[in-house]
Amino acid sequence: MALPHHIAIVMDGNGRWAGARGEPRTAGHRAGLEPVRMVIRECAALRIDALTLFAFSSENWRRPEAEVATLMSLFMDALDREVAELHANRVRLRIIGNRQRLAVRLQTRIAEAEALTAANDGLRLQVAVSYGGRWDVVEAAKRLAAAAASGALRAGDIDEERFARELQLHALPDHDLFIRTGGDHRVSNFLLWNIAYAELFFTDVLWPDFNAAELQLALEDFAGRERRFG
Ligand code: IPE
Ligand code: IPE
Ligand code: MG
Repeated sequence: MALPHHIAIVMDGNGRWAGARGEPRTAGHRAGLEPVRMVIRECAALRIDALTLFAFSSENWRRPEAEVATLMSLFMDALDREVAELHANRVRLRIIGNRQRLAVRLQTRIAEAEALTAANDGLRLQVAVSYGGRWDVVEAAKRLAAAAASGALRAGDIDEERFARELQLHALPDHDLFIRTGGDHRVSNFLLWNIAYAELFFTDVLWPDFNAAELQLALEDFAGRERRFG
């Protein structure tokens, strides 16, 4: 079966999952950790090169303060609890997004986790926190403009390949499979540049219910696609 090299997942539906049980939305976010563990485990076992998970978007900052605070403390706990095991499994972890908006102690914890796992040769795992596809492109453009203004780079030398090197995922191959759970068929400002030719897979399953069998369905669907690039 043809497997993707790089999977992107919009992990959506936590709030609705909790609502259906009469629980607060945050219970859904908590329940969303197990499928995160599952996809990392499965992708590593299948020797998939890279996985990028959408955990918190630029727009999610507009949610009620209490929900944002809970999500941030869940990220902190997850880093505390999971990083040693990720490291033992040779996963290379990176957080992508506007980390200046995160609490300083979370930034510190992220930097430590990235440093610890930087030399690993297993699954390349990106978790997008405070990330927006438009923000990513604008930041890349700013860096290139600064390099051009300082004379370090000639504007005429900027092409797609050079531009892509400035994006958060610079060194990684483009995503070939994009999965969104939760029933909505939209990108919601996730990886705008990198999913240019990704195969899109949408499922109604809510993220806390996403399991290995559901992932397998997405992989089988991908394997059946005829990939064309123009
Ligand atoms: C996804 O679940 C998690 C985040 C966006 C942080 P939601 O919180 O969006 O849950 P729904 O989509 O409202 O059910
Ligand atoms: C997308 O889900 C962001 C994440 C899953 C982190 P949202 O729930 O924020 O997206 P919209 O609002 O339905 O587009
Ligand atoms: Mg949602």
